[in-house]
Amino acid sequence: MNVNDVSFERERPDVYGDAHPKALLRAIQEDGDYLVQLANQHIVSGDQFNQETMKQLFRLAAKIESNPKRFSSPLQNKILISAFYEPSTRTRLSFESAWHRLGGDIMSITDRSTTGIAKGECLADVAEMFNNYGDCVVLRDTQESSLFEMMDALRIPIINAGNGVDEHPTQALSDMYAIFKWCPELIDPANNTSIKLGIIGVPNKMRTVRSFLKCLSVFPHAVSEVVVIHDSASETELFGPGQREELESRGLKITTSTDLDACLPTLDVVYINAISWEGDTFNTYGSKFHLNAQSPLKENAIILHPLARGEELATDLDHTAHNWYFSQARGAVFLRMALLTCMVERAERVIDVV
Ligand code: CP
Repeated sequence: MNVNDVSFERERPDVYGDAHPKALLRAIQEDGDYLVQLANQHIVSGDQFNQETMKQLFRLAAKIESNPKRFSSPLQNKILISAFYEPSTRTRLSFESAWHRLGGDIMSITDRSTTGIAKGECLADVAEMFNNYGDCVVLRDTQESSLFEMMDALRIPIINAGNGVDEHPTQALSDMYAIFKWCPELIDPANNTSIKLGIIGVPNKMRTVRSFLKCLSVFPHAVSEVVVIHDSASETELFGPGQREELESRGLKITTSTDLDACLPTLDVVYINAISWEGDTFNTYGSKFHLNAQSPLKENAIILHPLARGEELATDLDHTAHNWYFSQARGAVFLRMALLTCMVERAERVIDVV
């Protein structure tokens, strides 16, 4: 290694799809009441957000992203308990980054065996202790039910950061935030703008896809069609019981296809994921589907991926304008800053900041 050649480029390339958040900020009228109401809620599912609450969250996230230095202290003297009992790169670090950037303090547990759970302590007792030690909990657990066991005993808010195959609501909010930054006109039905969106993934098995579809269904005017692209040879049920019907009843037009290359030239947004955390390990689905720089994508199409990536998403796409997956992950910090601030009763400190 040549120690005289250790300089690096600080500017991120423009092609990483980072639209300026100010256009989204301008597209949404502020109504802080919806944000104040988040103080009395746990965040469990994509189902619990209505259109106006999401819009106000996206507006606040865009406001923070536009000028992060103005928001360095709303969470002073607040403590986050960050409990991740399943591997995570983005969710844990972006939640912790968000809390730090807002001026709060953090206690982090990354291994349940370092807590009393290893000695047989029940989750309700752990939750009772959390009530005394912190102001908000972010939990990722391999078990769907752990979240609900803790909620019963908690008097501070908890955020579901992924519970088995069930849900990952803040990932979905981050996905929606990325889409609306890319195309702010989609937020308002009066603009008569809509997109065709493809999902390469299994809604029945992937918590990211499951929560994303729920949040997407809150804006049915923005989506002319959702195509779920799947492997005809797979024996996995594409949708869970009632899942597709519920989404359709909210106004989403859902179709399915087994032909990725036939679909790609028609799609404005391609959402791809291949991993599902099931039990104590992960499974990979749709291994025959790959996206790369030669894929027949529409010229202006964007790709979203909750990451971690596998072979389904080639790195030669990283330096193309299709790459919105890095922007999606980066924007999650600002979306989580907005949500956390509201959940711990500090919304009034940020609503009037200009
Ligand atoms: N998107 C997501 O949940 O990534 P991590 O597993 O790294 O948190």
